[in-house]
Amino acid sequence: DIVGDFAGRLLDWYDQSARVLPWRIAPNSGGDPDPYRVWLAEVMLQQTTVAAVAGYFARFTERWPTVADLAAAGDADVMAAWAGLGYYARARNLLACARVVMRDHGGRFPDSEAGLRALPGIGDYTAASVAAIAFGRAAVVIDANVERVIARHRLIETPLPMAKREIRAALALLVPGDRPGDFAQALMDLGATVCTPRGPACAICPLMADCRARGRADIERLPVKPPK
Ligand code: ADE
Repeated sequence: DIVGDFAGRLLDWYDQSARVLPWRIAPNSGGDPDPYRVWLAEVMLQQTTVAAVAGYFARFTERWPTVADLAAAGDADVMAAWAGLGYYARARNLLACARVVMRDHGGRFPDSEAGLRALPGIGDYTAASVAAIAFGRAAVVIDANVERVIARHRLIETPLPMAKREIRAALALLVPGDRPGDFAQALMDLGATVCTPRGPACAICPLMADCRARGRADIERLPVKPPK
C-alpha cells in the first residue's frame, strides 16, 4: 500500500545514503541510541546547522559523557562551552533539563513525548524527535526540511505557517510503527541533500514515483512562504 511503500522506499534509501553524523549509530547496527546524546544533539540542532553543531557535540560529549556529568557541571563552564552556538537560553535550559532529569527522573529521560515535553527547553519538535529517535515512538517529527519534502510530495499550496496543520496531518499517516526514528532522520537527510530548497535532485529521489510536485517548473516555490 502507498503508506507502507512510502516509509519502505525512504528507509531503503536511508540505509544506503544516511549522512554519517556523530550523534547517530549506524543504521541496522542493532545498538540503541543513547537518549542523552540524542537529546543533546537535537537541542543543539535547533536553529543551528549540522555542520556548525558537529564540533560542539564532540566537545560536550567528551567533557560530559552522561546526563549526570552535565547536571553536575558548573553553569559558567557550560555557558563557555556553548559560546558560538547562539541562542543562549538553550544552554541555560540544557543545564536545567539535565538537573531535572537527575533530580526527578533518576537520571533517565522520560520515554514518551508528553514526558519529554514537560522538561525545561523541550518543545514540540525536540519531544517528538527524541521520542522517535531514542525511544522508537511513532512521533510526528517536523522541521523545515521535513516540511519541504511533505509540502512537495503532497503538493500542499497553502502558505506557511498555515500549511503546518496539513503537513502534520499528511505526515501522521505516513509514520511507520517500525523504525520511526530512522524514518524521521531519513526525511531530514532527504530534505538536506536531495529535496533541497533550490535545484532538487528529483531524478535520484526515492519518493519520486508518487511526488505530486515532481517535474513542475515551480517546485522551488514549495512550501509556499508566508505572504509579506
Ligand atoms: N536536524 C535536526 N535533527 C537532525 C538529525 N537527527 N539528523 C539530521 N539533521 C537533523
